[in-house]
Amino acid sequence: MEKLLYSGKAKQMWSTDDPELLRVVYLDQATMLNGKRKDHFAGKGTAANDISTLVFQYLIKKGIPTHFVKRLSDTEELVKKCDMIRLEFVTRNIIAGHFASRFGLEEGTPLDQPVEETFYKSDELDDPFANESDAIAIKACTADDYQKCWALARQCNVLLTKLFANAGMKLVDFKLEFGKLPDGTLVLADEFSPDNCRLWDIKTNAHMDKDVFRKNLADITTTYDEVYDRLKKAIAEG
Ligand code: C5P
Repeated sequence: MEKLLYSGKAKQMWSTDDPELLRVVYLDQATMLNGKRKDHFAGKGTAANDISTLVFQYLIKKGIPTHFVKRLSDTEELVKKCDMIRLEFVTRNIIAGHFASRFGLEEGTPLDQPVEETFYKSDELDDPFANESDAIAIKACTADDYQKCWALARQCNVLLTKLFANAGMKLVDFKLEFGKLPDGTLVLADEFSPDNCRLWDIKTNAHMDKDVFRKNLADITTTYDEVYDRLKKAIAEG
């Protein structure tokens, strides 16, 4: 019997008959302010699943270890169960979002080198910033895992910046999460969709990510569908 293990802001995780595999269901939902505002959008779950599947398959082809096994349906995928590291790894290539507000800077300036920020995953604490020594002190992970996660995140940044540029988009910033398989292998987990990255049109800088919902700029499903179409074309052209 499948059991609902976790119901999050945009996804659910279900157990499967195989103890090593989980079923992820993408919901037609978008939230902001750590879940304090929640809206329903028809088709959004499918669009996020489509994009995340493409991105994970692309990263796997390029040698990145991930939890992804296969897409099951429009809104579902099968993933390897892993012990999640309770940290969010945020990489920034262009000034935007909280980096702009925290330092009083204009959005849109490219950073000389990517900025790397780690946050402790805790809804009750509003995901506080945690540097390497914080992460180790609170036992979120070991120093070795912290370094290995960032090494993988850097590889993903290089690969994805290029992929999105080929698809006519700037990868402004993004959040990754990692987990450990039972054999100790560190893998990229969670998802990669416009819910957890900022994408701007390469020519117009138009937002093509969750900011269209956060800032009420455009329909979220239509925007995500456009991201998917562009990515699919860029990957096909290769
Ligand atoms: O809000 P902020 O500017 O710190 O976000 C940086 C990047 O990390 C954005 O792409 C945002 O969507 C993503 N992020 C996320 N989940 C969080 C915090 C940030 O996906 N809890």
